[in-house]
Amino acid sequence: MKKLLVQLDTDVQPSLFDAVVAYDGGADHVVSYGAVTPDNVAALVEGAIFTRGPKDKKNTALFVGGSHLAAGEALVQAIQQRFFGNFRVSLMLDSNGANTTAAACVAWLAKGRSLQGYKAVVLGGTGPVGQRVAVMLSQAGASVTLTGRQRDRTEQVCHAIQSRFGLMVQALAAPTLEDRGEAVRGAQVVVSTGAAGVSMLTETQWSELDELELIADANASPPLGIEGLDMMDKATLRHGALAFGPLGFGALKLALHRECIAQLFESHDQVLDAREIFERACQKLGA
Ligand SMILES: NC(=O)c1ccc[n+]([C@@H]2O[C@H](COP(=O)([O-])OP(=O)(O)OC[C@H]3O[C@@H](n4cnc5c(N)ncnc54)[C@H](OP(=O)(O)O)[C@@H]3O)[C@@H](O)[C@H]2O)c1
Repeated sequence: MKKLLVQLDTDVQPSLFDAVVAYDGGADHVVSYGAVTPDNVAALVEGAIFTRGPKDKKNTALFVGGSHLAAGEALVQAIQQRFFGNFRVSLMLDSNGANTTAAACVAWLAKGRSLQGYKAVVLGGTGPVGQRVAVMLSQAGASVTLTGRQRDRTEQVCHAIQSRFGLMVQALAAPTLEDRGEAVRGAQVVVSTGAAGVSMLTETQWSELDELELIADANASPPLGIEGLDMMDKATLRHGALAFGPLGFGALKLALHRECIAQLFESHDQVLDAREIFERACQKLGA
C-alpha cells in the first residue's frame, strides 16, 4: 500500500519545499492542491477518508501549508469538522514551516535551561514563524512581547494567539529599527522572525544589552535579520549571549519536518500542530 501525502496549500501555488520534504520524510507519492479553502476542501477530505479500509487508512495523510497561518488554521478546523468516527486520517499543519521552524528554534533556546520568567521579544512576529515562536516561548514560561510594524495587525495576531492557545502575548508596534532597538531593552531572549532579507536589528543595538542571554534569527536570506550573527551560529557566544543563526537551528527544523511526515503514517488519527511538534523537537534535542 503506497503512502500518500495530500498536500493542501492555502496559496495558489503549492509549496515545492513542502513537497520535497514530504518525499524525504517517506511519502511514496505527494498529491498537491493549491488555493484550498474551508469552502472547497470537503471533496478532498472525502477522497482521503473514504478510500482505504481501517487498517490501511494510516497510509493516507494530510498536510496543510501556505504562507498564511490563520488560513491554515481555518483549513485544519474545516478538515477536522469533516472527520467522524473512524473516518479520519492523520493531519499536520505547518504553514510556511511555522511549527517546525519555531519548534527547532525554541527547542534550541530551551536546551539545558528553563525559560520560566524570562522576558522574551519576538521581532517581526506577525508572520507564521513569529506567531508560533511566541506561542512556544510562552508555553515554555517566558513573558513574551511580539512586535510588528502596524499596531492593529500586531494586536490582532496577539488576540488570535490568546483565543487559540489561552496565552497572553504582549503586542508592540515597532515600525523602525530605532523602535525595535527600544523594544529589546531589558530582554533576556530576542528572536527575529522578520521577512526574508529584512534587517530587523543592528549589532550595536543588541551587543550592549546587559540582560541578554539568548539571541536567534530565523531569516536565512542575506542580509540576516540580526546584524552580527552568523547563519551557522548554534549556541555561539557573542557579546555575552548565546547566538543561534537560521542554519544553526535549520538542520533540526528539516530533520523534524521529515520525522513529522514519517510519524503521520504511523496511525490514522494524529493531529500534528504546535504542541506536538514542539514536544518532538525538545525530545530530539534532549531539551
Ligand atoms: N531557518 C529556517 O529554517 C526557516 C524556515 C522557514 C522560514 N524561515 C524564515 O523565517 C522568517 C519568518 O518567516 P515567516 O514566513 O513568518 O515570514 P513573513 O511572514 O514573510 O514575514 C514576517 C514578518 O516580517 C515583517 N516584515 C515584512 N517586511 C518588513 C520590513 N520591510 N521591515 C520590517 N518588518 C517587515 C511583517 O510584519 P509586519 O508587516 O506586521 O511588520 C511580516 O509579518 C523569514 O525570514 C523566513 O525566510 C526560516
